[in-house]
Amino acid sequence: MPMLHYRCADRIVESDDAEATILDISKANGIPHWHACGGNARCTTCRVRVLDGLSHLSPRNDDEARIATARGWDTTIRLACQTHVTGDVMLERMVLSGTDASQLQLEAVGTRGGEEREIAVLFCDLRGFTTLAESHTAFDVVHILDRLFHSLGEQILLHGGVIYQYVGDEISGLFGVDGGHAKRACRGAVRAALGMQEALALLNATLVEEFGIQLRVGIGVHYGPVIVGRVGHPVQKHFAVVGDTVNIASRIQSMNKECGTDVLVSDAVVSKLPEGTISSAATFAAGLRGKAVPVQVHAVTRLTSAV
Ligand code: FES
Repeated sequence: MPMLHYRCADRIVESDDAEATILDISKANGIPHWHACGGNARCTTCRVRVLDGLSHLSPRNDDEARIATARGWDTTIRLACQTHVTGDVMLERMVLSGTDASQLQLEAVGTRGGEEREIAVLFCDLRGFTTLAESHTAFDVVHILDRLFHSLGEQILLHGGVIYQYVGDEISGLFGVDGGHAKRACRGAVRAALGMQEALALLNATLVEEFGIQLRVGIGVHYGPVIVGRVGHPVQKHFAVVGDTVNIASRIQSMNKECGTDVLVSDAVVSKLPEGTISSAATFAAGLRGKAVPVQVHAVTRLTSAV
């Protein structure tokens, strides 16, 4: 039976399941192992360095080979979620903390300094948080927020984005930080926004039974240039995205309250998608602080599958 030696964790575990990936084995044995994209070869947070037993691993599949080539990995670095084990292996996990994950986001951008990129920015805000906090215990509030952010965050990852921040009752996602076409970034962001609505409906079905509540969120999406880079004290730098695009996306999100809508998407996003692929219930002109010309926003209800 193959044995896996996790050097940093000082653990040796066995696995007789030929179908299990290294990530599956970590999870089955309670070994913490980052897998931000859910094991779908979209993030690299599960990667391991193989210290011994390289010949006891399955060859790279196409998805892993594409990532390994793009990042210039040597043969000892493998995606745990894509790799199967046929014999004894010694390895170490390469992403051990949230700071590491943040660094990986920056690697996807491909720069250690500041760089301008055109990306889609999504803000999602929980409505009525004050009422929720007042009517439930602190533990229940944290539990509910945890489940909410898990459901919403999955949609960002599922549609090719990265989770940027959780601030209070708000979550934000970025699409296109690793380059690629504007259409891909905008399509991913809009799909994530609509997917969040569906995920929330499912979550609400259980929350209403367990806590007697239904949650509602407002989502805003905008596309445009931002500056990406690492900022902060030298010992604790974080991936950061700054610029008007971020502020406008946040402002668009907050407009949902005034407009009585759930998902608002700017003209800049709609213009990057093929004509007729967005179904919009209404259009509004968003007046923004410091902007002479209002931004057109659309209350999106559907995206055709053809896009
Ligand atoms: S978990 Fe994301 S690539 Fe393996």
